[in-house]
Parts: sequence; C-alpha cells; structure tokens
Amino acid sequence: MTTEPLDARTRDGSAGDVDHSAIGSGYSSYRRPDTRIAQSIAEALDGARTVLNVGAGAGSYENAAPAVTAVEPSESMRAQRPARFARAVDAVAEDLPFADGEFDGAMTLFSVHQWSDVTAGLSEMRRVTRGPVVVLTCDPQRVRDFWLYEYAPEVLDTEARRYPPIDDMAAALGGRATIGTVPIPLDCTDGFNEAYYGRPELLLDPAARQACSAWSFVDDGVRERFDTTLRRDLESGAWDERFGHLRGRPTYEGSLVIVRATP
Ligand SMILES: C[S@@+](CC[C@H](N)C(=O)[O-])C[C@H]1O[C@@H](n2cnc3c(N)ncnc32)[C@H](O)[C@@H]1O
Repeated sequence: MTTEPLDARTRDGSAGDVDHSAIGSGYSSYRRPDTRIAQSIAEALDGARTVLNVGAGAGSYENAAPAVTAVEPSESMRAQRPARFARAVDAVAEDLPFADGEFDGAMTLFSVHQWSDVTAGLSEMRRVTRGPVVVLTCDPQRVRDFWLYEYAPEVLDTEARRYPPIDDMAAALGGRATIGTVPIPLDCTDGFNEAYYGRPELLLDPAARQACSAWSFVDDGVRERFDTTLRRDLESGAWDERFGHLRGRPTYEGSLVIVRATP
C-alpha cells in the first residue's frame, strides 16, 4: 500500500498525493464537520479521553474527544485551524513522534487515501494507541456506485484507485477490526462528493468540487464536460427522472465507512 516516497513533501509540507496549498483556503468553508458523522466517530472512539488525530487538517471532528493531539503535515491546512484548537504537530502518519501506547484512542478522517505508505501509517497509529484506532474513509469497491460516475467517471476512478482496500487496512491495524457503513445525511455539511447525493446543483460550484481532492487529479476538460452535462440534465429533468428519488432520501449509505480496530 505505498504510493509516492516520503521525501515527496511539497513546499507547504504536504506529505501525500495532494498539494494542499494548491487546493487553497476554501477547504474549511466547504468541509464543515457534520454533527451526525461526528456522532458516529464519537461512538467508535467509545469514550477514549486522549485521542490522536492524524491528518487533522483544519480540525474537523476534534470535539469527538475531550483531549486531542493533532498531527498535520501541510502548513496551509494547519493555518486553517481555528485559534481555539491546539496547534497541530508537523509530522506524518508514517513516522509519529510519540511513545508506544501514549493515547487512549486515535482517529484519522478522510486522510489515508493521501498517505505515501498506508501500512506504515496505520502500524504507527496502532503502536502509539492503547485503545481503538478509528479510520473514516471510503470503500474503493463502492465509490463508483454513485450517480456522479455517469458524469465524471475519471473523478471516481481516481478515488477508487487512491482509497486503500478495507481488508488491507484491517490487516495493517491487526487485533480485532470491524467495518461499518456511515449514513450520510441529506443536508450533510461536510462537502465530500457523496454528501451532495440529493443536492446535485451544489456540485456545479467549482469551489465545492475543489474541496474534494479527487477533482484536482482530472483536467479542465473533465470538469467542463461534467458542468455541461449535469447542467443540461438538470434543466431537461433527465437527472431527476433517474436519480430524483434521492432528493427526498434522509440518508444515503454509500462508500463512507468507519474501520475500527482494537488491539
Ligand atoms: C482531506 S484532508 C482531511 C482533513 C481532516 N481530517 C478532515 O476531516 O477535514 C486530508 C489531510 O491528510 C493530510 N495528510 C496527507 N498525507 C499525510 C500523511 N502522510 N500523514 C499525515 N497526514 C497526511 C493532508 O495534509 C490533509 O490535511
């Protein structure tokens, strides 16, 4: 489960396959933590008090635990952290600067698909954590089962390629692992692609797309074709004919999962 070498950190410190200084400062406006997803994360952490958050970004979901230590390699993501949050440690998952068993629990949210070496990163999380390690991610086998695949297959092919296989992650974490689908609410405030399952118009906003890193892997032609064809189908009613039932569905069970492992 390796992609780029670890020395491929960019000038802003980004350590994975995305340069976050290029994604820009809009991330935290479009990727606001969702309270229902926060609840699923808190349940998986099962009362852990001291929690390590790896790939913490702007600090989404850090109120899921009483005492969070954040790790974030990208300077532009660290700069988006609210002042009330603890400063994030500049480090990478693959080499965590903490002692064995230092934390009650650990979490990594929407991050593993960007890491250079997922096996090494998850082994490090296991090493420094006494209790549950919680991974919020997408199942690569399910990402293409979404209407967006009809309009921008390149984007979801990119996601399917980047997300690590769930079984590999469970094996890297060892111990006892469980995998659960996370229901996505219709008015989800955290703007990853599937969060727009029943609100397709919102994905016509280029800034909303930019907050999902897979869109930064495709060229302008893909974005333009997506915009033209989705706009056309929304105006003609073709999208609603096929997918309009999603507009009223309170939750969507897509590719979003929590992998939880205890020693
Ligand atoms: C999509 S953002 C998610 C941020 C935050 N967890 C959230 O839910 O909003 C992915 C984060 O993972 C970080 N990241 C990428 N490669 C990493 C690595 N090897 N170790 C730790 N963090 C990494 C990125 O810098 C980025 O902030």
